[in-house]
Amino acid sequence: MAFQTLGIETSCDETAVAVLEADEQGCRLLGEALATRPEEHAALGGIVPELTVRQHLELLPRLTAEAQKKSGSVTVSGVGATAGPGLAPALLVGLSYGKALAWAQKNPFYAINHLEGHLFSPFVSHGKWPEYPHVALIVSGGHTLLVEASGPQERRILGTTRDDAAGEAFDKLARMVGLGYPGGAALEREARAGCAGKISLPRPMKGSEGCDFSFSGLKNAARLLLEKSPNLAVAGTARSDFCAEVQAAITECLVDRSARALAKTEISTFTVSGGVSANQGILAALKRMSEERGVKFLTATGGWNTDNASMIAAVTARRILDRQPSNWSADADPRWSVAC
Ligand code: KG4
Ligand code: ZN
Repeated sequence: MAFQTLGIETSCDETAVAVLEADEQGCRLLGEALATRPEEHAALGGIVPELTVRQHLELLPRLTAEAQKKSGSVTVSGVGATAGPGLAPALLVGLSYGKALAWAQKNPFYAINHLEGHLFSPFVSHGKWPEYPHVALIVSGGHTLLVEASGPQERRILGTTRDDAAGEAFDKLARMVGLGYPGGAALEREARAGCAGKISLPRPMKGSEGCDFSFSGLKNAARLLLEKSPNLAVAGTARSDFCAEVQAAITECLVDRSARALAKTEISTFTVSGGVSANQGILAALKRMSEERGVKFLTATGGWNTDNASMIAAVTARRILDRQPSNWSADADPRWSVAC
């Protein structure tokens, strides 16, 4: 029988609430409300923890009402909130709010791992529950992870970044050439007008043992190059060529490491999620690599690839289907690993 869940996401500066309908076969989103005010943080020079608390406190009641209204005011059977990983004060707001809401509604409450949400999104954005085993690439502003998921509660980290996340690399490089923040999408757009190979940037870790990533060498090489040739940061052909080379370098690193993870595990389903998976060039390259290996490729569609509450509501629904107990005593865990 179909039932509904409510998911809350406050792991960083974005506030999101979603209502989802689920049954044994799969799930579908009924309504989501999402808000972020990056300009308030940008004016203060970056993500300010105290400001995230005030923003989440202010936005959660309104976004909950909005998501419920969009869903047709259905009665939910369970509430889930992100408990980690993320920014502790931001997590605490969503977690406490979720518990209070669930308690008042006499519903069960579930503390959800944000990264498990990302693992779900390529499947649930197509209305399906995750299939096992699969290898997942999670690429966002905060994470670059290759995960082997053998079963619902059997996960192993195959590779992670030794320094910057892929999205962080995009953002820092975009900022260096005046493309604003976060600049991943702007850099990809500009790269389309350019030509990779006109300048040369490194592909850190490509071809090396294991499945780890590293992007700080790329950032440093770019900084040195820009010091020598400041014209690369001025809008025009040279800047487009610079962006195309950055796009090619990050793409090659992601493809190389992912191919290695697939070869190592011999698993034939590969998924990608996280904000960077909105990059069409990266998606096409990962898809091509998967097809060449005879591997099924799945990516999160629509708003499911960036941070959202739908994925949290989906993991919550799965908890209910699997008859998992409530987590009333769960605390925020800023470093909660996806491995288990
Ligand atoms: O998953 P997400 O919304 O939030 C977290 O970081 O958790 O990911 C945001 C990241 C930012 O670094 C942003 O620049 C990057 O995803 N991003 C992109 C693109 N769109 C968003 N990076 C490369 N190409 C894009 N088209
Ligand atoms: Zn995320």
